[in-house]
Amino acid sequence: MATAHIESQLEDIAPVVLMPGDPLRAKYIAENFLEDVKQVNSVRNMFAYTGNYKGKRVTVFASGMGIPSVGIYSYELYNFYHVESIIRIGTCGSFHKDVKLLDVILSQNAYCKTYFPKLLDGGEDGFISSSEELNQKLIEVARRNHIPLKTGNTITSDVFDLYCDSKEEFRKNYPEQDFLSVEMEAFGLFYIAKKLGKKAACLMTVVDSLYDQRSLTSEERETSLKEMITIALDAAIE
Ligand code: HPA
Repeated sequence: MATAHIESQLEDIAPVVLMPGDPLRAKYIAENFLEDVKQVNSVRNMFAYTGNYKGKRVTVFASGMGIPSVGIYSYELYNFYHVESIIRIGTCGSFHKDVKLLDVILSQNAYCKTYFPKLLDGGEDGFISSSEELNQKLIEVARRNHIPLKTGNTITSDVFDLYCDSKEEFRKNYPEQDFLSVEMEAFGLFYIAKKLGKKAACLMTVVDSLYDQRSLTSEERETSLKEMITIALDAAIE
């Protein structure tokens, strides 16, 4: 079996998938957190691995950047590989004053202005929610591991906001509500999950912040990343 973008066999993919944007992050997770690992995709270098975490099978599959890319991989994994849950583990920016660099954020809702739903199935953009069931697991695991987790709304943008002419003009495109994070994939993942009757969640580490301009050490980055990965893996096997 193979799809247009995935060469894996059906049995190579676990029902729960962790989805970083970066293929090399998928490799890092496989090498540092999983046992008995098998590489299950390398088409377009969108690396994917399946292995055991605490004795349970988990797949880590990269999504690439942006809604079109995450839309393709999540659709194919849910629809052709019978995946039930995808937990995105990404990075994000923030222009919320209570959010600091390297905070770990759980996206309860993603808001996006995009033509993606209209083109896919005549649907609407705007707000979409993630899986309440997955979110409860992620929140519980974070609490048990004493890892602080901020939960809230996410802006999913079709452009990298740091390259917009004006941050003020960018912000005016979105509702007045509080948004903890801005990134480029969550809405696409949540939309595909909802369409196919599957579950999706999104954890993010803050790497750009309007209110926190510290420069980070690689050790600080690694610690925050490891916390996010641990939350996702422990929730994935529950
Ligand atoms: N904006 C959008 N996506 C991102 C950012 C950001 O500032 N940082 C990491 N991914």
